[in-house]
Amino acid sequence: MSRYKAETYKFFSDIIFKQTGMVYGENDTYRLDSRIKELMTNFEFEDEKQLVEAFKNRPSADMMTILVNISTNNETYFFRDQKPFNALSDYMYLEVKKVNPGVINIWSAACSTGQEPLSILMSIQEKFGSSELRNIKLRASDVSFKALSKAKSGTYTGLEVQRGLPINLLMKYFSHIEEEDRWQVDSNLLNQIDFRDHNLLTGSFENSKFHIIFCRNVLIYQNKDNKNIIMNKLHDALKPGGFLVLGNGESLIGMDSLLQKDTNSAMTLYRRIK
Ligand SMILES: C[S@@+](CC[C@H](N)C(=O)[O-])C[C@H]1O[C@@H](n2cnc3c(N)ncnc32)[C@H](O)[C@@H]1O
Repeated sequence: MSRYKAETYKFFSDIIFKQTGMVYGENDTYRLDSRIKELMTNFEFEDEKQLVEAFKNRPSADMMTILVNISTNNETYFFRDQKPFNALSDYMYLEVKKVNPGVINIWSAACSTGQEPLSILMSIQEKFGSSELRNIKLRASDVSFKALSKAKSGTYTGLEVQRGLPINLLMKYFSHIEEEDRWQVDSNLLNQIDFRDHNLLTGSFENSKFHIIFCRNVLIYQNKDNKNIIMNKLHDALKPGGFLVLGNGESLIGMDSLLQKDTNSAMTLYRRIK
């Protein structure tokens, strides 16, 4: 049973859509319930009417930031789906290096709490050695301020490092903070990442900059129009010959993208041709 009025769900799903492009449909009220409740607790409002009024009457930047933080799904883990990271070190990186002797620009767009960019760096270091990291510029961005702050801290719980991270890599790249029972990633890896606050829908993109872009498990929350907008911007942000890695099952079938499916790998990989 719904906890709030239909207008309240509609009001917040509209703002979330405008801010992030994420769609909360009529059947998603249960997903919004806990989020609206969290907003009420956060701002100490007693009822939904007060909360809606506050958001209608010039909401502060803080209120919007918190709304975006709580409305995004930040699920992620180290070496998620594994194949993209194997393909990165065994194939994509070598392909782009062949024609680009200089620095290789990689972007983890929608990096959530940082496991994806760290997995990118560990994959490259494990394959090519630590000196290869000097040849890489890695950008990592997300719309959620909260997820990004955690990514910047490079600190993870025992549970988080158990998800996807092999024990030898945990021992090699992380140190245990006894007092907090947390794991801190090596500053050599963390300092290699240029973290940015960036919205894929409304943010600006640098043309023909990146050799490889990871944009995984974010388009599934967008409608077709927004997917098209984002895919076109990602196409332009890639260098010709550059690779775009999408999440499992996030194909471009049925969309008018200029990107071409890369048939050399059994994953959702696209390439900018020219
Ligand atoms: C499910 S996580 C995926 C994280 C990582 N890419 C992975 O595959 O493990 C989706 C991330 O997309 C971010 N996100 C949602 N809408 C966004 C937007 N419009 N621009 C940038 N990031 C967005 C969320 O904050 C969240 O951290």
